Amino acid sequence: MSKNFDVIVIGGGPGGYIAAIRAAQLGFNTACIDEWKNAAGGPAPGGTCTNVGCIPSKALLQSSENYEHAGHAFADHGIEVKGLSLNLGQMLARKDGVVKQNNDGILYLFKKNKVTFFHGRGSFAGSDGNGYQIKLAGAKEETLTGKHIVIATGSNPRALPNAAFDEKLILSNTGALAIDTVPKKLGIIGAGVIGLEMGSVWRRLGADVTVLEALPAFLGAVDEQIAKEAHKMFTKQGLKISLGVKIGSITPGKKEVTVDYADEKGIAQKVVFDKLIVSIGRVPNTIGLNADGIGLKLDERGFIAVDGDCKTNLPNVWAVGDVVRGPMLAHKAEEEGVAVAERIAGQHGHVNFNTIPWVIYTSPEIAWVGKTEQQLKAEGVAYKAGTFPFLANGRARALGDTSGMVKFLADAKSDEILGVHIVGPMASELISEAVVAMEFRASAEDIARICHAHPSLSEATKEAALAVDKRALNF
Ligand code: FAD
Ligand code: NAI
Repeated sequence: MSKNFDVIVIGGGPGGYIAAIRAAQLGFNTACIDEWKNAAGGPAPGGTCTNVGCIPSKALLQSSENYEHAGHAFADHGIEVKGLSLNLGQMLARKDGVVKQNNDGILYLFKKNKVTFFHGRGSFAGSDGNGYQIKLAGAKEETLTGKHIVIATGSNPRALPNAAFDEKLILSNTGALAIDTVPKKLGIIGAGVIGLEMGSVWRRLGADVTVLEALPAFLGAVDEQIAKEAHKMFTKQGLKISLGVKIGSITPGKKEVTVDYADEKGIAQKVVFDKLIVSIGRVPNTIGLNADGIGLKLDERGFIAVDGDCKTNLPNVWAVGDVVRGPMLAHKAEEEGVAVAERIAGQHGHVNFNTIPWVIYTSPEIAWVGKTEQQLKAEGVAYKAGTFPFLANGRARALGDTSGMVKFLADAKSDEILGVHIVGPMASELISEAVVAMEFRASAEDIARICHAHPSLSEATKEAALAVDKRALNF
C-alpha cells in the first residue's frame, strides 16, 4: 500500500469523511485518519456527530418522544396503553446500535470509494518538496506523506472554569447521552441547542429539569417571535428555564452536585441536582496537531485561521468544519469538505453561508434559514412578514400536533425571501423548501403560487408565503 497520498484528511467527522470521499471521487489517492475509538477500542469514524452528537441525540429524542406519546398522546387517538414502563437500558442500547450502523456505514463508504483509512492520531511532522509528512500514532506508528492536507479535527465541549467534566455528576454531551438511571433532578447550564435537546429527552423520561441560562433573552439567535412561542411551549411541557442567571460555585458531592447562582434579580440561589449537564458551547480542537511546530496559524479564539475558501496560511493545507469559523453544524462541515476537495481539483466549490439551515430537534422542532426579523430591523432592511399557524392546518390537526407557526420574511420591494422561520411539527423537514427557494432567490409569491399536496404540513409554508401579501386562504 502506498504511503504517499495526493490528499490526507485528518479527522473523520462529517467534514473529514465527506472531504475524503469527494476527493477520492475526483480521482485523488486519498487517506483519512481518525482517532475515535468505540467501546472495544476499534475505529468509530463519524466524529462528534456520529458518536456523541447529531445521531445518538436524535435516536434518544425519537425514543423519548415515543415514550411520551405512548403515555400521554395515544389515549386521545383511542389507543389505550396499560402497564407502560421504561426500559432505559434497551433505549440506550438501541441508540448505541444506531451509532454503530453509522460508524460501519462510513467504513463501507471508504472501501467503496477507495479511501485508505488509518485509525489513530495524525500530527504534522514536517514538510518538503513532496508535501507534508503526517505522523500517525495509533496501533501502528508510521509516517504518511500528502501533497494536500485537509484538517477536520472538530470541536470539544467547553467546560465551566470551576467544574471539570467527570461524566458522572458533571456531564458534557458525552455523559448526557449515556445516563443509566433517569435522574430525579437534572440541572442544565446553558439553554442552547444541546441544553434544550437533552433537557427534552430527560424530561420526557421523567426527570425534573431545570435549565440555567446566562443571557436574559431565550434563544437569542432565533427570530424573537418564534423564540417566544417556543419558550411558552417548553415551559408548558415542564422545562424550568431561568434566564439571566450568573453561575457561582459548583460543588460535586458523592451522589449529587450543588449549584450556587444568582438569579435574574441578583438573588442568591442554591439547587442540588442528581446530575448536571454543562452545555455552554464548544471549542475548536487542535490538540495534538503540532500546529505550532509546522507554523499553522490559529485565530484569537483558537480556531484554525482560514480564508473564504478554507485555505490556511500554509500552502496546500486546508481546514473545514467545527475547527474553523462559522456555525458548528454537521451539514456546514460537509459542504466545506466537498468544496475543498473540488478546489483541490481546480474546480469552484462554493458554500453559501446565507442559506445554511438551523434545526433544534425539540418538540415542537425549531428550524430557520436566512435573516431574523430583529436582524432585518437592525440592518434597516424594509421587509414584509407573513405567518401561518399550524392550528389552521388540516394535516397538523390529524397528527394531533397543532403547535407553532411558519413565518416568512420577504423584501418589501422585490418580495425576495430573506428568511423563513418555523416552530412546529416536522420543522426540520419543512425548512428544506425554504432553503431551496432562497438558494434560487425565489420571491414569497413564487412559493405562494406553487401547488402543495393536501393535506400536508407544507401547506402551512405556502399559506405563510401567501400571508406576506395578506392573502392567506385558510386563516
Ligand atoms: P467532528 O465531528 O468533531 O469530527 C472530528 C474528528 O476528528 C473526530 O472523530 C476526532 O476524533 C478526530 N480527530 C481530532 N483530532 C485528530 C487527530 N489529530 N488525528 C486524528 N483524528 C483526529 N450538528 C447538526 O448539524 N445537526 C445536529 O443535529 C447536531 N446535533 C448535535 C448534538 C450534540 C450533542 C453535539 C455535541 C453536536 C451536534 N451537532 C449537530 C454538531 C455537529 O456534531 C458538529 O458540527 C460536527 O460533528 C462537526 O463536524 P467536524 O467534521 O468538523 O468535526
Ligand atoms: P450553544 O451555543 O447552542 O448554547 C450555549 C448556551 O449556553 C448559550 O445560550 C449561552 O448563552 C449559554 N451560556 C454560555 N456560558 C454560560 C454560563 N457561564 N452560564 C450559563 N449559560 C451560559 O451551545 P451548545 O448547546 O453547547 O451546543 C454547541 C453547538 O453544537 C451548538 O451551537 C451547535 O452548533 C451544535 N449543536 C447543534 C445541534 C443541532 O443542529 N440540532 C444540536 C446540538 C448541538
